[in-house]
Amino acid sequence: MESHRSSVTDKAIGRIEAAEWLDRPAFQLANALALPQRLAGTPGKRARNALHGTWFGHPVHPMFVTIPIGTWTLALGLDTLEALGAKHSRDYGRAADLAVQAGAAGAVAAAATGLMDWQQTHGRSRRVGLVHALVNSTALGFQLTSIALRRRGRRREGHLASAAAWGVMFVGAYLGGHLVYRRRQGVDQADRSVEPRDFVPVLPVAELKDGQPRKAEVWDAVERAHIPVALVRQGGRIFAMGARCSHMGGPLDEGWLLKGGLVCPWHGSRYDLETGQPLDGPSTCPQPLYDVRVRNGIIEIRRQQEPGAEAVTSEDIEWAAQVEQPTSADTPLGRKADEVLFEHHELLRSMFRRIEDMSPDDPQRRDLMRTLASELEIHEHIEDEIFYPAVRPVSEDIPVAYAEHQQLADLLAATLKLPTSSPEFEEYLRALHKAVDHHASSEEHSMFIEAQRLGERRLRELGHELETMLEEQRTSRFQRAFRELKISLMAQAGREA
Ligand code: FES
Ligand SMILES: [Fe+2]
Ligand SMILES: [Fe+2]
Repeated sequence: MESHRSSVTDKAIGRIEAAEWLDRPAFQLANALALPQRLAGTPGKRARNALHGTWFGHPVHPMFVTIPIGTWTLALGLDTLEALGAKHSRDYGRAADLAVQAGAAGAVAAAATGLMDWQQTHGRSRRVGLVHALVNSTALGFQLTSIALRRRGRRREGHLASAAAWGVMFVGAYLGGHLVYRRRQGVDQADRSVEPRDFVPVLPVAELKDGQPRKAEVWDAVERAHIPVALVRQGGRIFAMGARCSHMGGPLDEGWLLKGGLVCPWHGSRYDLETGQPLDGPSTCPQPLYDVRVRNGIIEIRRQQEPGAEAVTSEDIEWAAQVEQPTSADTPLGRKADEVLFEHHELLRSMFRRIEDMSPDDPQRRDLMRTLASELEIHEHIEDEIFYPAVRPVSEDIPVAYAEHQQLADLLAATLKLPTSSPEFEEYLRALHKAVDHHASSEEHSMFIEAQRLGERRLRELGHELETMLEEQRTSRFQRAFRELKISLMAQAGREA
């Protein structure tokens, strides 16, 4: 058994996250930073939006940090060349000096943008953010010292100060990564559910007062969650946008209207009712929007789908059913695609059962395992090539199904490497069986049902294509030789290791 303890870095960061004594200085610093912004009025607000990246669509802080990281890393290399007395070492030295200075300028910009974002953080993120800022300021301090030393001709000390800065910067970068990837600072926090795809009634229009946002809820059956939506009536029009603020999830339905935008009660992001775009930060990310109509005195809403979203709408289904390819009358029509695949699933399941029932040192076990491997490969292949692309327009399951195929192939490769008589083989075989069963069942319970939207005729054509390819994969000498070679190579690699 592999043991699992939290990593050294997790432990260290956990200490910072729990350090409540950091809250007081953090609070004082945030207040000190906010005062001049308040005094500056509108220009102050503009500067804040610019530093957050409200105009840009993403926080700009991560872009500025690339400047010191890049230039200071370059300087480290150049300094090393100079210290080693390489040819042209004077030129290297001059270039390194410039790189250190450019990095320092970038670091100041990174600090300004980072501090702006940090002011709106809470709790443990705020504590880690404060330490992140202190660490990176230390790195900047080392580089400023280095610049002064270099100017005075004390190059060796200058190199050392820069090297120290580089190491400290690394720690700062780690903390910054933690804030984004673990604590989700700066990432979109809005609900991006694709529901409802068709208009659903949410509220009698008489209950929505002008200028008073209200919450409605829509149900997402896949996520098994109610999605809150903020409804707003203004100037005779009704607007609907996701109620969870994309900045940190604040309740927009409890916000207020200001200058044609809906303001979040938590940190004051203001969103354009028409476009969902942030007009004021800290948010940098537009809110999800809904189409609105009124039928029989009831407000109905429908999610405005975003480009590239995996959402099958009723229009898509209608369209897919219409484009039933005209086939020549002589195409033989046999079983439907889902029937062909279901039968193959059953074959795979029965092979698993047989291998599991065999005694571990039955010499036939290995052969049957190879046949199973080969049938599983063929199955994935015909689905990847024919079935999945055909069903994509009417089913949202396809991206995950592709991913699961990859996972099955990985597990199969790992299982083939093990001697069939070993206990590990039993464990892997069980895991593979479970994985195949999960995948096949979810196809049978969801994708195959949605595939019926393609129409009977299209499904029979696809069935014919699948059977033809299945046959060809099994009998073509080239295909077989190639597959067998691949399988023995996988099995071989294991035995050597
Ligand atoms: S949650 Fe921060 S502005 Fe909405
Ligand atoms: Fe599959
Ligand atoms: Fe399948």
